Amino acid sequence: MHTLPGNDHSAAVNVLFSLAGLCAVVVVFADLLSRLPQRRRITAFGGNGPFAFPPGFFWGAATSDHQIERAQNDDWTAFERRAHREGKQDRRADGNVSPGHIAGFGSVPAEWIDRKTDFDAHYASDLAACKAMGHNAHRFSISWARLFPRPGMSEADPAGVAFYAAIFDELDNNGLQPFVTLFHFASPQWLWEAPDAAGKRGLEREDAVDAFAVFTRAVVKNFGPRIKYWCTLNEPMVWAYLGYLDGVFPPGEKRPGGPKDVFDVVVQLLRMHAVAWQEIKSVDGTAQVGIAHHIRHFIPWRKWWPLDGLTALLVDQAFMLDFTDAIDTGTLSGTLTGRSLSIPGLAGTADYIGLNYYGRFYVKAELPGKFSIIKHDENEPGEEKNDLGWAIDETSFTPELVRFHRRYRKPLYILENGIADNHDDDVRRQGFIVRHARAMWQAIEEGADVRGFFFWSLLDNFEWSEGFDPRFGLLKVDYKNGGARTPRPSVEVYRQIASANAIPVSLWARHRRR
Ligand code: FCB
Repeated sequence: MHTLPGNDHSAAVNVLFSLAGLCAVVVVFADLLSRLPQRRRITAFGGNGPFAFPPGFFWGAATSDHQIERAQNDDWTAFERRAHREGKQDRRADGNVSPGHIAGFGSVPAEWIDRKTDFDAHYASDLAACKAMGHNAHRFSISWARLFPRPGMSEADPAGVAFYAAIFDELDNNGLQPFVTLFHFASPQWLWEAPDAAGKRGLEREDAVDAFAVFTRAVVKNFGPRIKYWCTLNEPMVWAYLGYLDGVFPPGEKRPGGPKDVFDVVVQLLRMHAVAWQEIKSVDGTAQVGIAHHIRHFIPWRKWWPLDGLTALLVDQAFMLDFTDAIDTGTLSGTLTGRSLSIPGLAGTADYIGLNYYGRFYVKAELPGKFSIIKHDENEPGEEKNDLGWAIDETSFTPELVRFHRRYRKPLYILENGIADNHDDDVRRQGFIVRHARAMWQAIEEGADVRGFFFWSLLDNFEWSEGFDPRFGLLKVDYKNGGARTPRPSVEVYRQIASANAIPVSLWARHRRR
């Protein structure tokens, strides 16, 4: 066949271009694949120790008002009473809890549903126990509903103020630096009863941000001089996800449009944070203000399936970075929502980042465009789980801390880390504490500015829709015996670390992974 020389030439060029194009696609694809989260093997940290922490490090335990105090007029109390009345106190066959239900509510005597751990009667001895355990700090939350049980109040309820004043006195008496949370999942029931003019309820109401400002102002006025470390919101993304997508937290919704239907809820939470920041800082410019942010290590369920990796990457961005990026930049760009909004007064409103870490979850892509979260993999070597089925993974704790350090360059405080362990021998909890402390030490070695650690939790308590059965406490609570507290063996393990401000050689030798 006769062809013109020029055509030969352009055919060769075309082939070259196609090859170059193909190479570019391969390179971009390979680069993308290399950025996808991988399954990291649970591995043993080395060294003999002692592993010493920086001077002035805070060691303590964490609690939240609704989980330990007597019932207040808040949305959770209303939710629990309804679940109890309607006998919705079971767990589904697949192990999960259905919206509107609370698992295992029947396993404690009925009066304990409203009494929780009866911290109101035990706080003096509970906080004295913290000191005896070598703690020098304590994280707790102040109940918004306890200070503002009714709508329209401009000043806090005196009985509520007196209750927390007594707690601050005990913290002082026991040498415990307070870390105070303002919103830990529960809010006044009156916000939920009446919708506003736009038909919004609860924290979505237009006036919810002002109401939160009034509450914050009251805390500043009554206790401000006693608080240096403030945490405006606990795990806002968990609260939004479980309340509006999964439906297991009040208000129990499963919004049909998915994450884009929850964008406005997240915006409200950011506004609440920003307004609380302004209230606190306008009175005390030296206060340290941040949030407690839930982090999970998200990894693909199927190693060989890039779509699982890609979905894990998106979930990671949406769940772990969108909120803290918004606080940093002032603009919420919702990864899974395609929406973006700049929020006045938000940019740069974090003095530190508080992180709550429990382990890793697997992400499985489901078609079309959906995904599921799997809590552990029975076949993954070395992977333990807690009594809620959550995969434990101290190995990934280190890189998560290092990543938050590199991204925001702020001090980090671990505001929660712990394990649901029902077994009285307490073996898993002891190993958990030592190995997570070792992983945190490693992160500090690698440059992360971690300044404190709070074990979840001081005592067994009410674990939201999971009820009373999961036992997270350093102190065991006997609900059938007046709420009597008994220290678990891990109290001694944690005491040794906190009082030495280091992981002693003997402790590490006993609990290291082999
Ligand atoms: C965290 C919550 C805390 C507790 C622990 C187990 O997500 O902040 O209240 O429920 O989990």
